[in-house]
Amino acid sequence: MWFNKFFLAIYLISLTPSKIIQAQSSHQDFVNAHNAARAEVGVGPITWNDSVAAYAQDYADHRIGDCNLDHSMGPYGENLAEGYGKLDGVDAVKMWVSEKPNYDYASNSCVGDECLHYTQIIWRKSVSLGCGRVKCHNGWWFVICSYYPPGNIEGERPY
Ligand SMILES: *[C@@H]1O[C@H](CO)[C@@H](O)[C@H](O)[C@H]1NC(C)=O
Repeated sequence: MWFNKFFLAIYLISLTPSKIIQAQSSHQDFVNAHNAARAEVGVGPITWNDSVAAYAQDYADHRIGDCNLDHSMGPYGENLAEGYGKLDGVDAVKMWVSEKPNYDYASNSCVGDECLHYTQIIWRKSVSLGCGRVKCHNGWWFVICSYYPPGNIEGERPY
């Protein structure tokens, strides 16, 4: 198995501001983007969790000075993303979901490239999440989603 307990994955991208017309970063935007990906593979919906969200936003605020894609090493599953200029919540989730073709269900492993952001999103047992977002001092946006209970557990399949 490729999965480690609490696998922590990062995703880095630069988006041009003109690509983004409208910010989509509400709680419901994050939830809906996750649930669309989960429904595609028959996994039930995830819900917003205020205590997890408080953790995520607190960690995002903590990164405002350096914007480093460092994991928080906390108790939750965690996906991180960064984008220059503008990165809304739905953009971040779409980036993670774009790894879908790299996940091979038969072997339960990533093929060719990263897939562990995606597998966290569709992890059936991760039933709630909270996300945070901050504009760093260097102009980049930092986005974090935290998952309870954490996914990407070694030896288990996402669904
Ligand atoms: C929300 O997260 C907390 C842990 O921070 C957990 O105890 C609680 O059960 C979660 N609620 C849901 C609905 O998953």
